[in-house]
Amino acid sequence: MKKPLSILLGVLILLICVVALGAAYVNFAPIPKHEAQAPELRIEADSAMIARGERLVSLSCALCHVGKKGRAMEGGPWREKDLGALYVANLTRHPESAASRYTDGEMALLLRTGIKQNGEMALTMPRYAHLSDRDLQSIIAFLRSDSPLTAPSDKTWPERELNMLGKVLTRVAIKPLQYNSNVADPDFADPVAHGRYLAHNLACYHCHSADFATVNEWEPEKSEGYFGGGNGIVRKESPEKIPSTNLTPHPTNGLGRYAMAQFGDAVRYGKRNDGSTLDHSMPRFTNLNDEEVGALWAYLQTIPALE
Ligand code: HEC
Ligand code: HEC
Repeated sequence: MKKPLSILLGVLILLICVVALGAAYVNFAPIPKHEAQAPELRIEADSAMIARGERLVSLSCALCHVGKKGRAMEGGPWREKDLGALYVANLTRHPESAASRYTDGEMALLLRTGIKQNGEMALTMPRYAHLSDRDLQSIIAFLRSDSPLTAPSDKTWPERELNMLGKVLTRVAIKPLQYNSNVADPDFADPVAHGRYLAHNLACYHCHSADFATVNEWEPEKSEGYFGGGNGIVRKESPEKIPSTNLTPHPTNGLGRYAMAQFGDAVRYGKRNDGSTLDHSMPRFTNLNDEEVGALWAYLQTIPALE
């Protein structure tokens, strides 16, 4: 009777030691680094590219990298604390800013794969694997150009401090995406193709699918519950997460409740179909033009309806 018990106890103690050692290792070992060659990039920017870059940045990067409303993209503490203390970087043209520290090739590598200049993975920032080469270069060209969004700011932020979950995830779960090259523009004349391009590159499906943990950035349509909503989004005001909504063409639970014009008001101005205001965890994509809203709408009608 006594023997099996002591064996069990021994095994248990051993197990506890292994777990404790593992935890100590993950906690104190350096964050893993990824080797990747930044591409050689020579961007020959023209004014059309800079204008295009400005629209894309204001629809994407600026939503997170503008520190205070109406200011330049000077960054600041990131609102989500799940993985530790993160700081959105200063993307202004100040010579010491993060954006200035990056070469064009390093910036392209970060945006496509998630690998930072120091080899570590950036957390929570979306990857732009399916942005066309031209759009990717337009974004980088815009970051180097003169605009209120890039007006030099000398703000600096501390190094991020990952908690245990952040450290575990960077070790086991968060891996670089492949560097996608030679990505062509979509057929902008085809609303469905254009809408799919926007829905993927503006990361709508990250929030509007089932869970951030099962978002598939390489093959977005394979994300669990693609556009069915339900993912819990962190909000500034309260610890309770707010669920994202179903944007599939389901007649009663999805976009069937919306007309196209109402959809445009929701996406651009945060107006729900009953006139009330959407929570601020839903970004305001104010700069989307009518053609782009129509394209998003057309694309969302083509995906399988979910309850
Ligand atoms: C959803 C919010 C979000 C969006 C959109 C976003 N970022 Fe970020 N960005 C972050 C966060 C959070 C970090 C800090 C990540 C970390 O430290 O792990 C970051 C970090 C960075 C860094 C610094 C990396 C380093 O070496 O520390 C650069 C450069 C950057 N972002 C550029 C961009 C550009 C360019 C865009 C648009 C194409 C963009 N970001 C879009 C949230 C975002
Ligand atoms: C950062 C997460 C996030 C991103 C990115 C995001 N959404 Fe949302 N969205 C939400 C949340 C959360 C709600 C629900 C807000 C509420 O209920 O008050 C919402 C609500 C909506 C609604 C209202 C739907 C309804 O059922 O009332 C529409 C339409 C919408 N989003 C479209 C989009 C589109 C299109 C994109 C991409 C261009 C997008 N969203 C990107 C989080 C997000």
